[in-house]
Amino acid sequence: MSFDLVFFGGTGDLTWRKLMPALFQAFRHGKLPAGGRILAVARDERSDDAYRAFIKERFSEVESSKRPTDDEFDRFAELLHYRRMDLSHPEDYTGLKQWIDERGADTAVLYLATSPHLFPVICEQLGAAGLNAPHIRVVLEKPLGHDLKSAQEINRVVRSVFREEQAFRIDHYLGKPSVQNLMALRFGNALFEPLWRRESIANIQITLAESLGVGTRGDFYDRTGALRDMVQNHALQLLTMIAMEPPSTSDADAIRDEKLKVLKSLKPFTPESVARDVIRGQYRAGNVGGQAVPGYQQEVKVPEGSHCETFVALRTEVQNWRWAGVPFYLRTGKRLAARDSQIVVNFRQVPHPIFPGSQRANKLVIKLQPEDGLELHLLAAKGSGTSDSLAPVSLDLDFDKAFAAERVGAYERLLLDAIAGRLNLFVRSDEQEQAWRWVEPVLDAWSRESSGGGEGPRGYAAGSWGPAAASALVARDGFAWSEEQ
Ligand code: BG6
Repeated sequence: MSFDLVFFGGTGDLTWRKLMPALFQAFRHGKLPAGGRILAVARDERSDDAYRAFIKERFSEVESSKRPTDDEFDRFAELLHYRRMDLSHPEDYTGLKQWIDERGADTAVLYLATSPHLFPVICEQLGAAGLNAPHIRVVLEKPLGHDLKSAQEINRVVRSVFREEQAFRIDHYLGKPSVQNLMALRFGNALFEPLWRRESIANIQITLAESLGVGTRGDFYDRTGALRDMVQNHALQLLTMIAMEPPSTSDADAIRDEKLKVLKSLKPFTPESVARDVIRGQYRAGNVGGQAVPGYQQEVKVPEGSHCETFVALRTEVQNWRWAGVPFYLRTGKRLAARDSQIVVNFRQVPHPIFPGSQRANKLVIKLQPEDGLELHLLAAKGSGTSDSLAPVSLDLDFDKAFAAERVGAYERLLLDAIAGRLNLFVRSDEQEQAWRWVEPVLDAWSRESSGGGEGPRGYAAGSWGPAAASALVARDGFAWSEEQ
């Protein structure tokens, strides 16, 4: 299948840091369909060769196992092309259309790796130039808007030019192998489904912890914050995968209909519940991995006195028969104790304990990163003959080891899906808007508090697990975060 893949924002960070390395991996693994052209589009004038040299040089910043050898790069570079475009000039889009039409590939994927404020203008111009025929797809990178209104505006313009099935909204968490495994675990195995409900599950915890700070992205981050950056999209997408009903087929819309129902069932926030159930924090100076690191407000391009949250922990519920009363705790933050992302399903205690000693409940840990695997925590008799008390044991599945050669990274998977037209792992506009609708009362409450002279986020030491209030949030229900259990 021949394809053209066009990157708007072709010299930007996302393109060289994530997209080109992912494409190169697909190329190296022999997964990139033959007959492809990759076109980078940006504002400055440069030749194909100059662009190839730029990408080659940037590969030196990619982790070494993912860097091409000179020979591999030369072969990959044959696919790379460059074109100067001014995104506000209609004639530049006409030129692009000619470039695409001349070859008449089976599909053209237009990837908007630009700042989202350019999405409307690019989409309008694409439509005006006739670059919206059915074989054309558009890929939109997050952040898709800043709030519900701006997200709706982007969607309105996208919809006025493309049909929904031509729009591929990326949430790179959905491309992570562990997230696909979550679907496989739930709907490819009969074992867990009968237990996947309020009768057996005490609570569910989703943690997306990063040890890095905001780095050089201080100005972007300060306008964004953890709720918009990680919760509205990644954490909520994971929650929908955990909580959704089994879809009737594996079709994209069957899956997305079920995910949307979960988002619509989330308990809405009120000003009182925001104050009670949402904790925001901001890192102060501390120590991460043995290294002293500055606080958020000392980072480059972060204004002093900023109220931007770098940590969020919240409690919510999915209001339906399956999940009524089961707390879902979501937590994400920068400069936490470790880079550790996981979903923990805590099962209920046995109803009537007969063994001596403390009774730990079973838990299933779905590990997203740094490792990718599953752990099922059980209790077992040691057989030592001296005691009847039980000892914790776990069944560990390491997917990296089990499927090593076949594992592909999130962007690699999603780019290949976009080229092949598979929408399952992309977010539909109604899901995305519903997620904004749900977080908006939290954003509103925080902005009211800040403009009323409130104290803003609670400080936490870099290298910790966030403000103590996050532990209290879970302790209030008689539970504890996984690392405190
Ligand atoms: C991005 C956020 O969407 O996800 C970043 O904008 C964050 O702030 C990143 O660091 C985390 O992704 P991953 O795959 O490294 O967990």
